[in-house]
Amino acid sequence: MKKIKKCLFPAAGYGTRFLPATKAIPKEMLPVLTKPLLQYGVEEAMSAGISTMAIVTGRGKRAIEDHFDRSYELENQINGTPKESLMSGIRDIIKRCTFSYTRQHEMKGLGHAILTGETLIGDEAFGVILADDLCDNNKEDSVLTQMIQVYEKYKCSIIAVQEIDINDTNKYGVIAGKIEETDIIRVEDMVEKPEPKDAPSNLAIIGRYILTPDIFDIIRKTQAGKGGEIQITDALLTQAKQGRVIAYKFNGKRFDCGSVDGFVQATNYFYKKN
Ligand code: G1P
Repeated sequence: MKKIKKCLFPAAGYGTRFLPATKAIPKEMLPVLTKPLLQYGVEEAMSAGISTMAIVTGRGKRAIEDHFDRSYELENQINGTPKESLMSGIRDIIKRCTFSYTRQHEMKGLGHAILTGETLIGDEAFGVILADDLCDNNKEDSVLTQMIQVYEKYKCSIIAVQEIDINDTNKYGVIAGKIEETDIIRVEDMVEKPEPKDAPSNLAIIGRYILTPDIFDIIRKTQAGKGGEIQITDALLTQAKQGRVIAYKFNGKRFDCGSVDGFVQATNYFYKKN
């Protein structure tokens, strides 16, 4: 079985919950302490042995490409000064990883964003990280690393899930299924952002996926769903019905940095930790 070598980062969304901060700055570039959200995601992918980063961007997102590139003027300014150490992490990322980009021209949902990334991924299984779900595992295996281990056993698409307050189901994709073993559930149902009364459980999808490449054809055939958007949740339910999809209750902390509350919690957490 081929190793997972590529990670896709859908990063074309407008980040309207963070206006006006996101008017000219991509939401993926908002920093928790001194690091942009997307850099945390890239570091998580690297910790899972991935060095090919595929990013789906959109208009007004050029700061992302500049961040993952050399900046000669800046380097020239700070070389040999104490501030140089602040650049060592991002310099290492640039040296060790390859970044490729494609633009999503229209915002037609997460499923559509992932399909837009097909050109960068090709015919192999790949990771997906939604950078606004910020995860931390201290020194233990990262969420993506854990998921790759599950993928190596089950050889199908894997989605990360977490128990949430039942009143919050309308913010997430929600799954239900059959327990295979501890923390491993075979998906039988999946609904995008159901109202609590319609939710099949309180197990919510978190922004980490391992997807097998047949998902692209399935997305192509998936009709617009919740919010008139092409939902990865709907495509994954089709994949689960045709074959198998596994939901994995991961170990680790996760912050919803797409919300102001989650962002502040993440900031406090990393501030204390550092
Ligand atoms: C997306 C997915 C949803 C998932 C969530 C995780 O929603 O559509 O199924 O639970 O990410 O963060 P979004 O938050 O982009 O609206």
